[in-house]
Amino acid sequence: MAGQSCYTSNESTQALLELSYLCTFPMAVKAAIVLKVPDILSAESTPLTAKQIADRIPGTATSEAKLERLLLALSTYGLFAVSGSNPRTYSLTPMSRLLAKEENGLSLSSMFLLNTETSHLETLQHLHEAVLEEGVVPFEKAYGQPVFQYFAQNTQMGGIFHSAMSNLSVILMKSVLKNYDGFKDVKVLVDVGGGTGLNCSMIKAVYPHISAINFDMSFVIAKAAKMPGIEHRGGSMFESVPTGGDAILLKTVLHNWDDTGCGRLLSNCYSALASAGKLVIIECLLAEETDMSSRSRLVASFDLAMMTVFKGGKERTATQFQNLVESTGFKDFKVAVYGDVLSVMEAYKI
Ligand SMILES: C[S@@+](CC[C@H](N)C(=O)[O-])C[C@H]1O[C@@H](n2cnc3c(N)ncnc32)[C@H](O)[C@@H]1O
Repeated sequence: MAGQSCYTSNESTQALLELSYLCTFPMAVKAAIVLKVPDILSAESTPLTAKQIADRIPGTATSEAKLERLLLALSTYGLFAVSGSNPRTYSLTPMSRLLAKEENGLSLSSMFLLNTETSHLETLQHLHEAVLEEGVVPFEKAYGQPVFQYFAQNTQMGGIFHSAMSNLSVILMKSVLKNYDGFKDVKVLVDVGGGTGLNCSMIKAVYPHISAINFDMSFVIAKAAKMPGIEHRGGSMFESVPTGGDAILLKTVLHNWDDTGCGRLLSNCYSALASAGKLVIIECLLAEETDMSSRSRLVASFDLAMMTVFKGGKERTATQFQNLVESTGFKDFKVAVYGDVLSVMEAYKI
C-alpha cells in the first residue's frame, strides 16, 4: 500500500531531495534529444566515447566534458549504458533505443518535447487551483481556452502534441496487438474516436479480413488519408455512433470524459452495436490499491495530466470501468489483457 514509509530517516531526506530535482531529468533527456545523441549512437554498431559523440553533434564548439556529465547523469536512469574508464564509452539501452528514430520515423522523443514544452510547464503551475475550485482546468487557467482550440490556433504546439500522441499511440498499439487476439473473429469494426484511422490500419494489417469504420469529428476526419478497407465517417459520438459493427473499439477515449459523458457515449455504443456484439476498451488502468511501482507512477502521471488538461478527464480502475460499462447495459465485462501501459477490456451486448 502506498504511503507506508519504506525509507529510514536518512533515506527519506535523500528520496525527498531527489523528488525535488525530478523535473531536471526530462529536461536533460530533452537536451540529449536536441543534441541528437540517441540518433548518433543508433547509427553506430560500437559504443562511442563522449569525444566521438561530441564530434558527431551538428554545429560547432561542443563541450566534451559537459556532454560526458549529461550522459553520466542520464545513465543513472538507465538511459545510456556506460563501460570502461578513461575513456568511458556509451551505448543505447532498450530505453534510449525508443528515443532514436525507427526506420518508419517513430520514436518516443516527441513525448519529452511535449512534456518539457513551456506551455505544459506553465499549465502545471495551476494544478492546485483544480483542487481548490470545482470545474477549474489548469490549461484553460493558463491559456484562457480549451486545449484543442489552443492547438488549432498555435500550430507549432499543436504539431508537437499530435506528433507525440501519434508516435505513442502506434508504439503502444503494436504491443497491444502482440498480446491481444480478440479482433480475430470480428467482421466489421467501428473505431469510435479513432482519430485519423491509425488504429484501424494497424488492426487491419494483422486481420486483413476486417472491414473497418473509423469514426471521429468531421474536422479530424477531413485530415484522414484514404486507406483500403477503411471507411472514414465524421460526426459526434455524443449524438450517435455508426451502426453495422459487430465490434466497437474505444481506445484512450473514455479517459478524456467525466462519468456522465462516458455514460452517454457508452449508451450510444450499446444502441449502435449488433446484438451479441463486442465492446473493446483500451485504456490505462489505475491500480485498485495504489503502490509505489513504476507502473502505478506512470498511470498516476497520466491521471494528473488529465486533471491538468481536460474538464472531467481521468484515469480509472478496472472496477470503475466495469461499473460504467455495466450501467449502460453491457454484460460479461472482463479485463482481457493487463498491459504494462495499456490494458484491454471487453464487454458484450447480450
Ligand atoms: C485521446 S484521442 C484518442 C485517439 C485514438 N483513439 C487513439 O487511440 O490514438 C481522443 C479522440 O476522441 C475524438 N473525439 C473527441 N470528441 C469527439 C466527438 N464528440 N465525437 C467523435 N470523436 C471525438 C478526438 O478527436 C480524438 O481523436
